[in-house]
Amino acid sequence: MIKGFIFDLDGVITDTAELHFLAWKALADEMGWNFDREVNEKLRGVSRLDSIGIIMDHNAVNLPEKEVVELATKKNEIYVASLNQITPEDYLPGARELLTHLRQEGFKVALGSASKNSTKVLAQLDATKYFDVIGDGNSVSKSKPAPDIFLFGAEKLELKPEECVVYEDAESGVDAAKAGGFHAVGIGPKERVGHADVRFDDMKQATLFEVKSHFKDLF
Ligand code: BG6
Ligand code: MG
Repeated sequence: MIKGFIFDLDGVITDTAELHFLAWKALADEMGWNFDREVNEKLRGVSRLDSIGIIMDHNAVNLPEKEVVELATKKNEIYVASLNQITPEDYLPGARELLTHLRQEGFKVALGSASKNSTKVLAQLDATKYFDVIGDGNSVSKSKPAPDIFLFGAEKLELKPEECVVYEDAESGVDAAKAGGFHAVGIGPKERVGHADVRFDDMKQATLFEVKSHFKDLF
């Protein structure tokens, strides 16, 4: 039986992709690197250090690890400053309604994000109150597609993976959910999350009613 829900943050609860893009773009411009929205799409769900690795590969650049970490930190400072502009108006349509609904129905809810800035983003949205457990980039060392972040959330919720539904917008996030034995809801196009157990174009469509109808025997 389904007793809990685990949510990715960026691209599921709110859309921080644009802010990540602007911060990486500022760094790339400073470094004279090529970086556009197409490359940015590849960073969805990917950790900060893996992200800079993808951008450097795209530019055929190789730097000592210490310098790479310094540059990623610089991008993060730009990104964190930009998070101040997020307000409770910035939920993706449908996300706040779903979180409220889950609270009303008594489901356990965890966050399962790759971001090390998740508590700041949740605070800006005033969304912390919807979560029993916060699992993020600070909670585990192996990032998605490893299932560790979702296993962390399930363990803290005292639930088994098969008792949890995971919401994800990233290919690597759906891979992580499936690898951990969770029920996966994909948010986004078929080419990205078509391998989830059920897929919706956006959060507005991914209501509790729809998810219950899909996993009928599990509720
Ligand atoms: C994920 C985003 O949620 O978090 C990625 O989809 C991002 O784009 C990753 O790189 C890490 O985020 P942060 O805030 O720790 O740099
Ligand atoms: Mg995401």
